[in-house]
Order: sequence, then C-alpha cells, then structure tokens
Amino acid sequence: MRIAAGADHAGWPLKEGLVRFLMDRGWDVEDFGTFSDESVDYPDYAQKVARAVADGQVDRGLLLCGTGLGMCISANKVTGVRAVTVHDVISARLARQHNDANVITMGARLVTEEVAKEVLATWLDTEFAGGRHQRRVEKIQALESQEF
Ligand code: RB5
Repeated sequence: MRIAAGADHAGWPLKEGLVRFLMDRGWDVEDFGTFSDESVDYPDYAQKVARAVADGQVDRGLLLCGTGLGMCISANKVTGVRAVTVHDVISARLARQHNDANVITMGARLVTEEVAKEVLATWLDTEFAGGRHQRRVEKIQALESQEF
C-alpha cells in the first residue's frame, strides 16, 4: 500500500515522525515535503498529495499543517478526494467506515505525535463499510461533478 505525505512548515516536524511510523508499518511512502521549518504555503502541498491520490498513484494521503484545516479545505478542491481533519480515533474510524475518506489531515499544533500515530493507524486499518454509505458517497461524487 502506498501513501503520499505532505506538510507545510507548521506540520513538518509531525510529518517526519509520522513518515517514519508509516514506513515501520510497511507502507510505501511518497513524501512531497516540505522538508524544513522555512515558511511555505499549505495549498501547494495539499495539491501535490491530493493529485497523487486522485490520479491513483497512491492509495491514501496524509497532510499536516498547524491545524489540519487549510490542508483539508485545499485537498477537497481536487476531484475524487474526500479529505477529513481528524484528531481522535472515533472520528478516524467513522471517516473510513462512513465517508470512505482517502486523505487525512491533522494539526501539528493541536495533537501530540503519540495521539497522531494512534489516529493514523486507526484510519489506515479501517475499511469502508459500503451499504447505505456507498449511496451517500455516490451523492458526494454527484455533487462534485455538478459543482466543480
Ligand atoms: C501556518 O501558520 C498555518 O496557518 C497553517 O499551518 C495552517 O494551520 C492553516 O490552516
């Protein structure tokens, strides 16, 4: 399984820890940067990761900024991406089961690395439930094709 990772300067330290965590768990990680604390603009990194997910180059995406919010807003502008900002394991599980979220975003200023790892592992290990949720995801896709 392949995952694309990206962060701005605020998310960069957390990205480094989570990329190592993912590799230790056997994920093939494509790291789109950033690679330092030099100030950058989060939409640039959201676009790289979201595009890799939408094009099928990777199975999932991970985006980190100060809050997770700017990354989430930006990633959701790319057709085919269902990005969610998640900082707890219940939401991580439900974002997969109900929403089939293919990108997760987190805020490095809001969550510890330990909690972020727990959230990420839950999100990666949970399958989409399908059934009535499939119909709802299809409605999101219909919305997307009408609006974008
Ligand atoms: C950068 O200061 C900060 O605005 C960014 O990391 C993010 O939190 C935006 O949503």
